[in-house]
Amino acid sequence: MLSQTPSSTVQVNSFFSHGICTANPINVEHLLVTNFSNYVKGSRFLNVLYELLGHGIFNVDGHLWTLQRKIASHEFNTKSLKHFISDIVKSEMANTLLPNLSKACDENSVFDLEQVLGKFTFSTICKVAFGIDLQTMPYLPFAKAFDDAVENCFSRFLSPFPPIWKLKRLFNIGSEKRFKEDIKTINEFAMEIMKSKQQEENSSERVAKNQDLLSRFMLLSSNLEFQDQEHKTKFLRDIIISFVLAGKDTTSTALTWFFWLVAGNPRCAHLIYQELSEVASPPDAEAVPEARTFSYDELKKLHYLHAALSESMRLFPPVAINSRLTIDNDVLPDGTRVGKGGSLTILLMQWVGWRECGARIVERSSPRGGWI
Ligand code: HEM
Repeated sequence: MLSQTPSSTVQVNSFFSHGICTANPINVEHLLVTNFSNYVKGSRFLNVLYELLGHGIFNVDGHLWTLQRKIASHEFNTKSLKHFISDIVKSEMANTLLPNLSKACDENSVFDLEQVLGKFTFSTICKVAFGIDLQTMPYLPFAKAFDDAVENCFSRFLSPFPPIWKLKRLFNIGSEKRFKEDIKTINEFAMEIMKSKQQEENSSERVAKNQDLLSRFMLLSSNLEFQDQEHKTKFLRDIIISFVLAGKDTTSTALTWFFWLVAGNPRCAHLIYQELSEVASPPDAEAVPEARTFSYDELKKLHYLHAALSESMRLFPPVAINSRLTIDNDVLPDGTRVGKGGSLTILLMQWVGWRECGARIVERSSPRGGWI
């Protein structure tokens, strides 16, 4: 419907709600930047996502959001974090991902790339965000519980008659009963992470290990006043779950679509390979060729690869939908009126027509980077 509307904006009304859905870039900028303060996650997010995300950054507005956002922005801009992430990704690739792919190649076996990349990004995010090695944790039950819980939250959002899921929750039956069990598994996993952080704090290894995001959050929030230990634990639990949500499926989805597009575009694959070969430092005679990885500074020189990745995320955005509630009546830049208390949903999904010319768009980018 959106693709057939000249303004890329439509009104979506149901029995229970009224709202606007838009894919128009000027409206997207209006929501995210120009009139940001008029659009909030509000009670709709909190009602649906509270058990999973608590008061984590993705589920709050106002003071709680600003506080977490400040810490996140500060840390994400530090050079030390960028190098830390690059080192972890390098070691995960060299020790696990590349040997596994290479083995599958030697054996000519078929594997599910989405699954392999899912495991790779989950393992990487656990090291980057919490400094923990997945092999030491009961991660499989957690990963399943997390995926199922996210799916249940989606069903809650899409429910045409929300009182139904609320009644199921009240009587602890069906999907809501399973959701409650999933949340228990998720909370246990978060507690394990906190316990391991606590042990690290008490041990002499602390200085060497405190580079991960959670440790940085713990340090920067150490001057915050909590009512009691329970509130502090809950604050950290919500941060842990938010990082898992932020990094787990987004990155693996982005990588899966990227490889799928590259597989269908041999010219693009060739240009990426050519750039990698040029940037790679002279081969170390000792190094196993298939385990070659790149340092943070080398990665910054890969302009064509950057353009190809950006293009693939434009065509298949890993986070394709984002929605907010309107605090006050507003008029969007394309002239659409938005009513107070209604919703404004942005869809980053590009249309089929755009996707069909995806290969050509990638090729429009210069091998040296930038768009021509
Ligand atoms: C390809 C990978 C990723 C994509 C496509 C992506 C996309 C997004 C999007 C669309 C938002 C805005 C959400 C909103 O406004 O509700 C967001 C927010 C955020 N992302 Fe990512 N993300 C990715 C990876 C990551 C990773 C690896 C982390 C770190 C663990 C991360 C941390 C965050 C944080 C902390 C926010 C909250 C910002 C805020 O509310 O102000 N993201 N991301």
